[in-house]
Amino acid sequence: MNVRWSHCVLRVRDLDAMADFYCDALGFRVADRGEVGRSTEIVFLSGSSTDHHQLALMQGRTSVEAGSLDHNAFRVDSIDDVKAVHDWVAADDRVGPGFPVTHGNAVSVYFADPEGNGIEVFCDTPWHVRQPQISSWDPTLSADEVLSAVRAEFEAVDGFMPMEQYREQQAEAFGESG
Ligand SMILES: [Fe+2]
Repeated sequence: MNVRWSHCVLRVRDLDAMADFYCDALGFRVADRGEVGRSTEIVFLSGSSTDHHQLALMQGRTSVEAGSLDHNAFRVDSIDDVKAVHDWVAADDRVGPGFPVTHGNAVSVYFADPEGNGIEVFCDTPWHVRQPQISSWDPTLSADEVLSAVRAEFEAVDGFMPMEQYREQQAEAFGESG
């Protein structure tokens, strides 16, 4: 299985100040912004057209002493790879249960390492979907069935489009084309 690091999500105390800092320091652009859970705001940042986000910042860090890591995310090649990780997590007693989650643009399993650091293992879907989006998927279905269910759930979301089209738009926004 080919596993590539993709992004991390940090909990922060001052969302706007932190987003401004990363945009100023690294030239990141805000890819999306919205609410997850109970009025927790999240901002997705990227410095490249190839990634919807490389860093996301979400509200909820209570103090400097409190940890800031929500999760590190690792990309794999297929839904079958994600299913294999899901099944491994379910069988391993060092970690808690894994949560099958889909953001529409990805099919993921979330779990935590033995010290509680969050991990997301995901594969891309062929589509861009405005974020944040959180739903679940059924690990007992085949990969094709999972993909069909994800499409059916998210294709009505405003801005749903093929990933290549989104990347072209982003390449232009980042001044990468030409
Ligand atoms: Fe993530």
